[in-house]
Amino acid sequence: MREGDIGMDVDLGDGYRLRNATEADRPALEMVCLKTGDSGKDATAREDDPRLLGLIYAVPYQVFAPEFAFVIDGPDGVVGYVLGVSDTEAYDKWATEEWFPEVARTLDDPGPDKAKWQGSDWARRAIHYPSFTHLEALRPYPAHGHIDLLETVQGRGFGRKALDHLTAAIAASGAKGLHLAVSPTNTGALAFYERVGFRRLTGGDVPRGAVYMVKEL
Ligand SMILES: CC(C)(COP(=O)(O)OP(=O)(O)OC[C@H]1O[C@@H](n2cnc3c(N)ncnc32)[C@H](O)[C@@H]1OP(=O)(O)O)[C@@H](O)C(=O)NCCC(=O)NCCS
Repeated sequence: MREGDIGMDVDLGDGYRLRNATEADRPALEMVCLKTGDSGKDATAREDDPRLLGLIYAVPYQVFAPEFAFVIDGPDGVVGYVLGVSDTEAYDKWATEEWFPEVARTLDDPGPDKAKWQGSDWARRAIHYPSFTHLEALRPYPAHGHIDLLETVQGRGFGRKALDHLTAAIAASGAKGLHLAVSPTNTGALAFYERVGFRRLTGGDVPRGAVYMVKEL
């Protein structure tokens, strides 16, 4: 196997490498997710439970599809991840029927009144009542992913290499297209995705204000 082949570590330079994430990396996935969870910025001040963002957006991917879960590991430990699934509908079904009910057993439901929510109540509610939308416009892009790097390692080309690696792994599985959901206010991420070959999906049943970046594989 050559470096860069699926299953091998990728040397990113400067003492950093991309490697498959393991169960032992789950606390690090939670940490990175929290520190990038406010449209790319640190969400620590907003959340009263530091684990929940990661339990929604990062850890379940490593549980469901460890073959598509990678971390960027460096001299001081994990500083980023790229995660994905090849079949979004299968993932959403598993998350709804298995993952979220299990996590919800440990959390109080804050109730439906958003005006009363504080701190991480939004996340507790989302975990108790998970909801996924399946758009016709996304059918050609059945795979999806997430990428987050701590601020200290942004802008060094790691994101491009990590996302290329995930894309190659997902393409090798046979999926025909990949999408990433992006907060419309995360202008840095939108610029990044365009630079690395994704385009914004528009039209059809894409809701106004929702941003999906897509790529054919
Ligand atoms: C977005 C993110 C994944 C990009 O990774 P990165 O390692 O910083 O990006 P790279 O250094 O690999 O950049 C790749 C290309 O994108 C461009 N780019 C990256 N971030 C950019 C930004 N904020 N604004 C404009 N262009 C940007 C780079 O200039 C580069 O272009 P080039 O190769 O043509 O010169 C990373 O910055 C990050 O994790 N940010 C915080 C969390 C986040 O927003 N995640 C996405 C949630 S949807």
